[in-house]
Amino acid sequence: MCVVGVTAKYLCLLNVEVILISVHLLSHCYNSFVSSYPRLVVHTDLWQLNRTWVFQGHGASLQPQTMLLDEGHERLYVGAKNTLFSLSLDRVSTHHREIEWASTESQIEECMMKGREKPECANYIKVLQQYNQTHLLACGTGAFNPVCALLRVGHNGQDKLFSFEEESVMSGRGRCPYDPNSPCTSTLSRGELYVGLYTDYWENDGALCRLNNQTYTRTERNDRQQLNEPKFVGSAVIPDNDDRDDDKVYFFFTEQEVDAEGANKAVYTRIGRVCNDQGGQRMLVNRWSSFLKTRLICSVAGPNGIDTHFDDLEDVFVLNSKDAKNPEIFGLFSTTSAVFKGYAVCVYHMDEIRAAFNGAFAYRERPEHHWTPHEDRVPYPRPGSCASKVNGGGFSSSKEFPDEVLRFVRSHPVMYRPVLPQHHRPVLLQTEQGRRKLTQIAVDRVQAQDGHYHVLYIGTDDSFVLKVITIYNKDTDTMEEVLLEELQVFKVPVPIKEIIISPKRQQLYVGSEVGVAQVRLHQCDLYGSECADCCLARDPYCAWDGLTCSRFYPAGVYTKRRFRRQDVRHGNAVQLCNGLQIDAEEKLVYGVENNSTLLQCVPRSLQAKVLWFLQKDGDKHEVRGDERVIMTSHGLLFLRVRSSDAGVYVCQTVEHGYVHTLLRITLHVLRGERVASAVRVANDGGPRALAPSSVPGPHSRLWYKEFLQLIGYGDAQRVEEYCERVWCSDKKRKKTKRRYAPLGGEKRGKGRGEENSHRAPRHTLDT
Ligand SMILES: *[C@@H]1O[C@H](CO)[C@@H](O)[C@H](O)[C@H]1NC(C)=O
Ligand SMILES: *[C@@H]1O[C@H](CO)[C@@H](O)[C@H](O)[C@H]1NC(C)=O
Ligand SMILES: *[C@@H]1O[C@H](CO)[C@@H](O)[C@H](O)[C@H]1NC(C)=O
Ligand SMILES: *[C@@H]1O[C@H](CO)[C@@H](O)[C@H](O)[C@H]1NC(C)=O
Ligand SMILES: *[C@@H]1O[C@H](CO)[C@@H](O)[C@H](O)[C@H]1NC(C)=O
Repeated sequence: MCVVGVTAKYLCLLNVEVILISVHLLSHCYNSFVSSYPRLVVHTDLWQLNRTWVFQGHGASLQPQTMLLDEGHERLYVGAKNTLFSLSLDRVSTHHREIEWASTESQIEECMMKGREKPECANYIKVLQQYNQTHLLACGTGAFNPVCALLRVGHNGQDKLFSFEEESVMSGRGRCPYDPNSPCTSTLSRGELYVGLYTDYWENDGALCRLNNQTYTRTERNDRQQLNEPKFVGSAVIPDNDDRDDDKVYFFFTEQEVDAEGANKAVYTRIGRVCNDQGGQRMLVNRWSSFLKTRLICSVAGPNGIDTHFDDLEDVFVLNSKDAKNPEIFGLFSTTSAVFKGYAVCVYHMDEIRAAFNGAFAYRERPEHHWTPHEDRVPYPRPGSCASKVNGGGFSSSKEFPDEVLRFVRSHPVMYRPVLPQHHRPVLLQTEQGRRKLTQIAVDRVQAQDGHYHVLYIGTDDSFVLKVITIYNKDTDTMEEVLLEELQVFKVPVPIKEIIISPKRQQLYVGSEVGVAQVRLHQCDLYGSECADCCLARDPYCAWDGLTCSRFYPAGVYTKRRFRRQDVRHGNAVQLCNGLQIDAEEKLVYGVENNSTLLQCVPRSLQAKVLWFLQKDGDKHEVRGDERVIMTSHGLLFLRVRSSDAGVYVCQTVEHGYVHTLLRITLHVLRGERVASAVRVANDGGPRALAPSSVPGPHSRLWYKEFLQLIGYGDAQRVEEYCERVWCSDKKRKKTKRRYAPLGGEKRGKGRGEENSHRAPRHTLDT
């Protein structure tokens, strides 16, 4: 790109960035997975707005799946290669502490002797759990020789305590995989670790295990009916009633299912559950007496009765509520098809999950037969139940269960009924080809004026977090998705590997291999200060308070709050903001005959539709655009303005039925000679004479905007011509060509440069 002088160079460089951003905008916003654009895309300004802070990891290779939130001690713990970090929840980028926990030289040597590569032969932290108030349990791969240890955490005067308990080091076998890339999930319940992992060096033995330091229970080895090539995704403890002995640990995973034909292997998502289970006494010794599983379905009905299934679970989020027995479960799924990659989010309720586990057991004579419901008698106590007071039976341990019960559960681990999602369909879908991949999900429940909403935070493979609400319309039985914001949390495109939400702090903690970012959940003022801007945003965190768009608190939290305007469900600004419109801004723009002129008007919202009207001689008509007058995302562009174009142009936006007049621009068209003389004056008087007030003609600010516009318009040749015409002298261009050519990215044809070289610069913008 051509450049003259310091200022012009700055403008040109700035424009390179603008191009990149607008391309980015297009590729991300057209065909967005929600029905339309996000209203707001927040890119690099996240940092400038202090809405995000990033912990860079100091070169350590982070294991972002291993993150643990400790609100009591106000810390976030993050596993890494040979290291554990403790970060401040207030500001992850400052005051971190770290523990080094590397494998010994001899362990590394042994690992490499077994044929592993050097980078694999390190201690990658894969398990991190809050053991009790003062200790964490951490496990690492230990150069293919898993190890666990306790870490001391807490307060220590001013400092946060974070230290290694040397004497607690123990074997990690059965607690932590050998391979750094092996999928695993863990949760801690009543001091015992429940973990889904591959327990062996060769990754053959996928198992669900319970361990304390004396006993363990696990799935049967090599029993494909229990687990078949599982990929472990998540786990959670969910109580069934007030008896803690009845607590269930749920596992979410995918596995291979051999269909009735025996040939076609399919991937299914499973939900499995176990009790605090000691196994049997004579049979099922150290094996689950309570393990059951069923299929988790997330599908869309097709027009021809064939459903599209999303069978590959990517991530799961358990949204806890006041009622600990009934969290809502959000699954992020993808299709398993190699040709068509789509994503969906489904929500599951515990009623439905319990109904499946309390329903019929599935039965099939041989693996190649179809599943049928088991209709014969079921032994007592019901197989899969916990040994507890509430459950009757009066058993204090699973070791007392009758053999008949153990035998039954061993042969019937699958439930006949699958778990269907709320409304029997996804709450969110992305089915377009070639879109970004979705990797992670976290959810916040937000109280708004008109009810509560689930705000979904969805991580992508290119550093973004999408903030979405979904609204169910009972009358039409339809789902509306509203993409509120797209937040770029890392400057380089990396997959988001973990999202932890802290509703208490109103923060997200987002993990990737390059760092951990902390992002505030909302920034209401970004939507604009007008009632309509705030209303149309439909962000349940935000409401218009009479002056600005600010954080919404439900009635009673801050009694002093007077009126708040918010309408998440309908975004009906027409009704809510009636009479609160700020008068349209008035502007004066000078165009030069036969030159290009931009009437700039950029609505804050990407979802707003822009309309232009021309008022002239008492008449008002809509400007539709043609080959000379182009409607662009930056405004109305006249490629060759005529004196007959003069008049008052009104820029109006329509969004959600709300009509808003943003600008009234009076366009004057100047004849060529007048401008030429003005320019002469400007050149003689130096750049300061170009001040807008002194010359009623083109000045740098206008050109800059035109320039922007031309880029937005995307006609590279015109941009170049314009650039040359306005900013480039032959001499300086040659100089700058050498210096800046790679930045512009566009090759200048030699011939054309020569051809234009006789032209003198109209102005120089440098001082
Ligand atoms: C962001 O924080 C810095 C330093 O804390 C401060 O100087 C700056 O004004 C803040 N910016 C905004 C937009 O709040
Ligand atoms: C937590 O567990 C460790 C190890 O068993 C023990 O030393 C410590 O006292 C426990 N802390 C509390 C608060 O129970
Ligand atoms: C292991 O079990 C013993 C005996 O119950 C207990 O004292 C000890 O604290 C346990 N150790 C850990 C690390 O939990
Ligand atoms: C307007 O166009 C004329 C003719 O192409 C040109 O000489 C003049 O420099 C242009 N003025 C501006 C401000 O671009
Ligand atoms: C503008 O262009 C028209 C048609 O090309 C021409 O007749 C007219 O003289 C031009 N005016 C100026 C000021 O250059």
